[in-house]
Amino acid sequence: MNYKTEAYQLEDFIREMTDIVEKTDSEADRVSKAEHLVGKLIRSISWLTEDKRKPSNEGYARYSLYVDPQDRFEVLVLVWQPGHKTSLHDHDGTWGVEGIVSGQVRVTNYIQEGNVSKNVVRLRHTGSIVVQEQDTGTLLPPADCHTLEVEGDQPAITIHVYGKQLCHFKVFEPTGEKELYNAKVSYVKYSG
Ligand SMILES: [Fe+2]
Repeated sequence: MNYKTEAYQLEDFIREMTDIVEKTDSEADRVSKAEHLVGKLIRSISWLTEDKRKPSNEGYARYSLYVDPQDRFEVLVLVWQPGHKTSLHDHDGTWGVEGIVSGQVRVTNYIQEGNVSKNVVRLRHTGSIVVQEQDTGTLLPPADCHTLEVEGDQPAITIHVYGKQLCHFKVFEPTGEKELYNAKVSYVKYSG
């Protein structure tokens, strides 16, 4: 008999996630199955080494944990201090799952309603929620724009899985006109 007593590890997640991307084509399928696995992965982070739990003085810290060799998904950990917040951003057209290991994160969501011109995009605010410790959330274009910020005065650790290695994404700044935002490309930087 096989009694499995060890906690779910990053290696288990990678193996199961690889199996999912090999057996599914639809992004909607992948994102819902990935969310289930992220839920398992964040129950315990005994697998997360100390060097990838270090906060940064320059905003939230971002560490790469894994990139699929065929670029079908990547896994990241973000380490947040109270007051840290992202810009309003998209995910370069791919799906995403986030899971809160510890702390609380406010997620404010927007849906893309199309380009008004080359660099001006219409975004509609669709709500704001506080994601609690051990909860997960998903992103699927065109509902793939959001800000994340630490809620309250506790630090946070979050796990993120995207449908490819996110090398760049768009950030959006208000034009001053309702629902219209200037878009510009930003390149991902890692903390270590
Ligand atoms: Fe994001």
